[in-house]
Amino acid sequence: MKVNGHHYRTIWLKENDPQTVCVIDQRYLPHEFVVAELKTSSEVAKSIKDMWIRGAGLIGVAAGYGMYLGGIEAAATTHFDAHLLKVSQHIKAQRPTAVNLAWAVDKQLEFVKGKSTIDEKIQALLEGAKWLAEGDVEFSKKIGEHGLLIIEEISRRKKGETVNILTHCNAGWLAFIDWGTATAPIYFAHAKGIKVHVWVDETRPRNQGANLTAWELNEEGVPHTVIPDNVGGHLMQHQMVDMCIVGTDRTTRSGDVANKIGTYLKALAAYDNNVPFYVALPSSTFDMSLTDGVAQIPIEERDAEEVKYVYGKLNHKVEKVLITPLASNACNYGFDVTPSRLITGLITERGVCKACEESIRKMFPDLIKD
Ligand code: MRU
Repeated sequence: MKVNGHHYRTIWLKENDPQTVCVIDQRYLPHEFVVAELKTSSEVAKSIKDMWIRGAGLIGVAAGYGMYLGGIEAAATTHFDAHLLKVSQHIKAQRPTAVNLAWAVDKQLEFVKGKSTIDEKIQALLEGAKWLAEGDVEFSKKIGEHGLLIIEEISRRKKGETVNILTHCNAGWLAFIDWGTATAPIYFAHAKGIKVHVWVDETRPRNQGANLTAWELNEEGVPHTVIPDNVGGHLMQHQMVDMCIVGTDRTTRSGDVANKIGTYLKALAAYDNNVPFYVALPSSTFDMSLTDGVAQIPIEERDAEEVKYVYGKLNHKVEKVLITPLASNACNYGFDVTPSRLITGLITERGVCKACEESIRKMFPDLIKD
């Protein structure tokens, strides 16, 4: 997608230096556009943990590149396979909820299996990382095409009036490699000349909506309005939202969806007001081993500091300010689970299906083994 009119992806290998991974450092957005260079698997792990990069798809692909750098490091040791396994465990441990992270690491371990020389293994890891990135872009595009049909239908019903879409957090291209998932249908619709407007939940505590989704939409010229997290219910009661589209970090085979904290409350409000609530995801975000999201999906707890302090720009400088009494406790659950019964449909790269095991199984028979 575009930054200042130039096309970017969120992660790439440095030109003429294939051992350096470049990423857009999201900690600085929307105020500064900074590209960080990652040269070791530990740096990749740190960039995931500390949210230089974030979002389910992007951390999966970054993990893939981290494994490739880990392979280069392993070549300098006497036990390649044991070292790579250690790297894989370290990377996987950085964030627990988004299943793409473990999925991508496991894919890389599979690609290395059966390769006999170290050169072949490193080559397999490099090609594996590129395959993960290209697959991510391809899936996002397909999600865009399928989601576009839903927006077109609403636009037809409204006789060309603006379609108002509410989204939470950032499941945009910054959370993936290009296009995004929740945003892909919106970008496709906008490019086709369909009138769309996006309500962007600010998404406390880290404000991925206000900082990242708003920035992306702005760069692409998509009309949008940032709203405090508590506004969505009011807008829905007054017919100011035609549909919600959100992303997900892990979805069970029964269609329960873990996504950024606060998603559940939006789904409840949407259900109560008959607003269609869609979740956009690539198949890599399914965890087909799980049947009950609330009981089984691990929920990341982050530092309470993220709740107590906010970042903002003041006099041309980004400042961190305390917004609670210093002594107050705060808690910071990163995700919640929206039960399948509140979800209108899952927009995947293979099409739109219901959020239930029967429908998911029909669309992804190859991914559910039993
Ligand atoms: O904590 P983050 O920023 O990595 O959370 C991920 C998200 O932005 C959202 O939950 C998103 O909707 C799913 S990621 C595609």
